[in-house]
Amino acid sequence: MSESAFDPTDFPDPHLLGIEGLAPPYISMLLDRANEFVELNRTVGGKLDTLAGRTVMNLFYEASTRTRTSFELAGKRLGADVINMEVSTSSIKKGETLIDTAMTLNAMHPDALVIRHGSSGAAKLLSEKVNCAVLNAGDGRHEHPTQALLDALTIRRRKGRIDGLQVAICGDIVHSRVARSNIHLLNTMGARVRLIAPKTLIPTEAERLGVEVFHDMRAGLWDCDIVMMLRLQSERMQTNFFPTLREYYHFFGLDYAKLSAAKDDALIMHPGPMNRGVEIASDVADDIGRSAIREQVEMGVAVRMACLETLVKRQEAENGR
Ligand code: NCD
Repeated sequence: MSESAFDPTDFPDPHLLGIEGLAPPYISMLLDRANEFVELNRTVGGKLDTLAGRTVMNLFYEASTRTRTSFELAGKRLGADVINMEVSTSSIKKGETLIDTAMTLNAMHPDALVIRHGSSGAAKLLSEKVNCAVLNAGDGRHEHPTQALLDALTIRRRKGRIDGLQVAICGDIVHSRVARSNIHLLNTMGARVRLIAPKTLIPTEAERLGVEVFHDMRAGLWDCDIVMMLRLQSERMQTNFFPTLREYYHFFGLDYAKLSAAKDDALIMHPGPMNRGVEIASDVADDIGRSAIREQVEMGVAVRMACLETLVKRQEAENGR
């Protein structure tokens, strides 16, 4: 791995709670570092000892496949010991509060805590109670910073830049922390963002997020470089946001007919998990030439390595360790 000018102490925050407020050089710093890990991750036996002897704890209060596994792998590739707290078998099931759990874990001196929680602001709350680095792996509808970073790395590697690209984020935006983090990152890095969804799935604050809003897929996808699809988060829906799944697919599901409005080389993305035949047609999702969905997962490990390394090393420098 080549030596870059990477210096974790340059990073402005002790935690990674969101993308909002993170200035372009720091986003680029994480992306550049992650990019250096991509080749390592493709090498048989590729592993570093950068975080040897350090402990990363994964605390996931919500279901996860990609994010949890990817943080675990990222920690291990850097040589850290990784502990996964299973909410279903922990004291959380006995009614322990987030703060009590945090204090308990903190007493074991982890170097980083990775948290996913159903409440917006949970990661921030945790960061105020512990003395290690906290990484937000998704808090309610608020933010999912490492997802936006891995999406940005995927885009940058495929398109060579982020600046000036036209990006459409489509589907259940109102419930999506992925959308919120991506809007902040893409706007900060100079892309133009469009949101495409039925009115009921567009957040009321969309106006002040600096995006264009569309309710018609072909109009919104016209001339786009990137098409980012989102899952319908039915677990966050208390009422009906649209008549039927069939109708939703008809108007908002990404198929080749709607995709033809975008640029010929438009990249198709989805954070997963996908609901095939709901927000995206199977053949589009599996289009080897145009879909970057699997690459996004690959970039996820590299990005989380960069984030863990940066925050743990920064904290050690600060504490003089
Ligand atoms: C997303 C999440 O959990 O916010 N998934 C992910 O992290 N890859 C999106 C989703 O659940 O639909």
